[in-house]
Amino acid sequence: MNIQTIMVIGAGQMGSGIAQVCAMAGYSVYLHDLKEEFVEKGMGIIQKNLSRQVEKGRMAEDEKTAVLERLTSSTELKNAEKCDLIIEAVVENMEVKTNLFKILDEFAPEHAILASNTSSLPITEIAASTKRPEKVIGMHFMNPVPVMKLVEIIRGLQTADDVYETIENVSRKLSKVPVEVNDFPGFISNRILMPMINEAIFAVYEGVATPEAVDEIMKLGMNHPMGPLTLADFIGLDTCLYIMETLHEGFGDDKYRPCPLLRKYVKAGWLGKKSGKGFYDYQS
Ligand code: NAI
Repeated sequence: MNIQTIMVIGAGQMGSGIAQVCAMAGYSVYLHDLKEEFVEKGMGIIQKNLSRQVEKGRMAEDEKTAVLERLTSSTELKNAEKCDLIIEAVVENMEVKTNLFKILDEFAPEHAILASNTSSLPITEIAASTKRPEKVIGMHFMNPVPVMKLVEIIRGLQTADDVYETIENVSRKLSKVPVEVNDFPGFISNRILMPMINEAIFAVYEGVATPEAVDEIMKLGMNHPMGPLTLADFIGLDTCLYIMETLHEGFGDDKYRPCPLLRKYVKAGWLGKKSGKGFYDYQS
């Protein structure tokens, strides 16, 4: 299947990164969000990232211009009509995602693949909201997208082989390393990562150690490049909570119960780096 035009839905931290790597790989890209100001914010992040590449001598100025020219802002889902691949990166919420996939199914051409960047939600259930479940797949990028090599590709129950192969090829064209997994809550990455983050939050909640101490121990003791609470702030505490809830509901095991402190922070609007406060302060 020949992919030329890609639509990325959700211009947040993941969507803007995905749009950037797609445009850098030569694809024409629509970056879509609910409001013009959200798309502009995402475009701003991309421009800043590319300028940094130019400053460091990793990218020529005319290359940056060419990448930006391949990007088009969108607030009309109807633009999906012109796309061969749509990558959804909106909030980690099943209802929002299935409503969106229903609309995309109407607008996107028959041959188009609908991919989700969900961190944990079942691809099979998202696929079931469309009339093309064989063309729905999980394409789970890591944060920050331009830096991280992995794309976890999730096969839904009905995902067709040629769709899987196309997405594997697109991932390689984006200079990423695709790894195949089947559809189970949290897939592999978050099934293993998120309970560790949740446990780190429990350790703080129970007064065992400060966030700084927890992170220092995991960095120096386990050779992790970043402590779990710093990582949680980078991922977004709302996203972490959604993922824990998905694991808890999907496996029904108490070991996946989200820490009350995580709930409290999310309720307070402390979502991590993107809101300026989480386990650490990012306002200054
Ligand atoms: P974010 O909060 O930075 O961005 C979400 C964007 O989606 C916002 O700009 C919002 O306006 C937009 N949006 C919400 N509903 C929409 C709709 N119906 N139509 C169009 N746009 C809509 O969130 P983030 O971190 O970029 O996460 C997005 C997805 O990527 C989630 O499914 C998340 O689980 C997944 N993900 C997140 C990672 C992370 O480290 N944050 C890593 C890998 C996947």
